[in-house]
Amino acid sequence: MDILAIRQDFPILSRQINGNPLIYFDNAATTQKPIQVISAISDFFEKHNGNVHRAVHSLSMEATDLYEKSRENIAKFINAKSSSETIFVRGTTEAINLIAYSWGLGNLGKGDEVLISLMEHHSNIVPWEITSKLRGFTLKYANICDDGTLDYEDLEDKLSKKTKIVCLSQVSNVTGVINDVKRVARAAHEVGALMLVDGAQSVPHMKVDVQDLGCDFLAFSGHKMLGPTGIGVLYGKREVLEKMPPFQGGGEMIKEVAYSRDSGHCAVLWNDLPWKFEAGTPNIAGAVGLGAAVKYLEKLGMDNVLSHEKKLTKYAIDRLKECSKVTVYGPSDPKQKLGIIPFEVKGLSSHDVALFCDNYGIMMRSGYHCAQPLHQVFKLESSARASFYVYNTEAEVDRFVEVLRELDQL
Ligand SMILES: Cc1ncc(COP(=O)(O)O)c(C=O)c1O
Repeated sequence: MDILAIRQDFPILSRQINGNPLIYFDNAATTQKPIQVISAISDFFEKHNGNVHRAVHSLSMEATDLYEKSRENIAKFINAKSSSETIFVRGTTEAINLIAYSWGLGNLGKGDEVLISLMEHHSNIVPWEITSKLRGFTLKYANICDDGTLDYEDLEDKLSKKTKIVCLSQVSNVTGVINDVKRVARAAHEVGALMLVDGAQSVPHMKVDVQDLGCDFLAFSGHKMLGPTGIGVLYGKREVLEKMPPFQGGGEMIKEVAYSRDSGHCAVLWNDLPWKFEAGTPNIAGAVGLGAAVKYLEKLGMDNVLSHEKKLTKYAIDRLKECSKVTVYGPSDPKQKLGIIPFEVKGLSSHDVALFCDNYGIMMRSGYHCAQPLHQVFKLESSARASFYVYNTEAEVDRFVEVLRELDQL
């Protein structure tokens, strides 16, 4: 990949912050947008804006066509068998809530178990904690090893015939650890459980093939893969989605609502997939923007994206060793992870580190990154986190290390 040419596509990267060129290292939180995505969204509003699926006029047809074409491109991107298995949602959080409420409330009860892990983002913990209180099922957490990798033995010990679903992130948003979700999906299916993969940090950075993984559900967010906020995807196997009731009721998700004077009620016939799960006017421009983001990533090639980030991560981890006060968390072998580096600077809070870097135009996350249980495993209050994407360079890492080395003098 020609990184310097890629950078030209991202207008925000020419900004100065606090008198310094912007270095954007908060990609695990959200990514910047290329001009191709920005133009697809503005083009939609300038030329094609209409509501989808509802009218026979030209603008509605054009909007519907763009919306559904995006769905098809995204379905191909993750190798879904059909675009009807690709549901537009607000993001990963909404996708997981959809499963927890629609599938979970209908299928889980006392004596059942749901298995997640201690490295999950809160959005793959809290929906299951809430629904376990509503339905009385048991929520189990697989342990994490000291280096932040998944304890597969513990996970497999906790799997049993009682397990009804395993929900696991493919890549940790704190350590960048890559989990072998294919192995876990196989083990889950052996006991008759479903497999949900949280792909928020994997789909943007590596080739994810739902048929190869064998997962039943995959959730991801557009804004973490060059697309806009407020749009994401829930992939689900057709046979599983068919049996689930809708998550929300309203327009779009029905075929027919027929009032009967006899019963005093409406008989409701659900719409076909995927629209059964898309109540109300969707984020049409968001879907169009995400379609453009997927096209952009496909042009780069996901293998190239992955290898660029792996190389940069190895380079950064090696160079951070020069900073005497910095401790990096997570596995020491960069092969086990993607471009997310959590670290601590001795004697400073993570917010102080992030604010210090901000003075130099370096944007970085601090706190516990919506993954408090994992920080408890590391016995950390919080961490600073640098995370990379396609437009980041070794020169930026050099500048980052130079800035952090100033902290050695304090
Ligand atoms: C692993 C993981 N899961 C879920 C989410 C939630 O994503 P969103 O806020 O886009 O719904 C995030 C966001 O950081 C994440 O990193």
